Amino acid sequence: MKFFLDTANVKDIKRFAQLGLVDGVTTNPTLISREGRDFETVIKEITKIISGPVSAEVTATKAEEMVKQARNEVKWAKNIVVKIPMTEEGLKAVKVLSSENIKTNVTLIFSVTQGLLAAKAGATYISPFLGRLDDIGGSGIGLVKDLRKVLDNYGFKTEIIAASIRGTQHVKQAALAGADIATIPAAVFGKLWSHPLTDKGLASFASDWASFKQQQK
Ligand code: E4P
Repeated sequence: MKFFLDTANVKDIKRFAQLGLVDGVTTNPTLISREGRDFETVIKEITKIISGPVSAEVTATKAEEMVKQARNEVKWAKNIVVKIPMTEEGLKAVKVLSSENIKTNVTLIFSVTQGLLAAKAGATYISPFLGRLDDIGGSGIGLVKDLRKVLDNYGFKTEIIAASIRGTQHVKQAALAGADIATIPAAVFGKLWSHPLTDKGLASFASDWASFKQQQK
């Protein structure tokens, strides 16, 4: 399973990149706006830290404009993936971009038919939003399971990015459901390796070792 960071914060990206376990980054207009800096500058900085795919979202709503923005974004770095919203216009744009070998990540996926259409249009990635679907009483993980089955039924190469991750349980469930990638906020990523029993175990090893060393003196 691949891990992406779901943030535009360069400090967080630099911190976690040091682990060597970050395969890519996803951003969206909200995440970029939180940084209070120029979109192009932020994305270019991220592409210098992470060599894997970096998603940069278009803001246009018409297919022609989306395609124009996408063609411009991919000039910024070779690892840019253009994030396109799941709309009728978005699907038209994905079809054009895939014919030009421009990688796309279709975002705001909340149903199997949306995911299937995006895959058929040639999307490189689709992003089902787990947390936001759970919030309205749906099942984000159920959607990932269904998408996995449908993509496999027809041999689509489109990869599933489990997005809108709210906790470490989502990461575990996404892995079990067969998501190719989980895109994880920094606050959740920083908890992936923690367990209270690990901390407790380590503390007792340290204290037993200290007593043992004391006895040896
Ligand atoms: C990633 O591609 C999405 O934009 C992101 O995961 C959305 O997450 P949110 O629902 O926490 O805003």
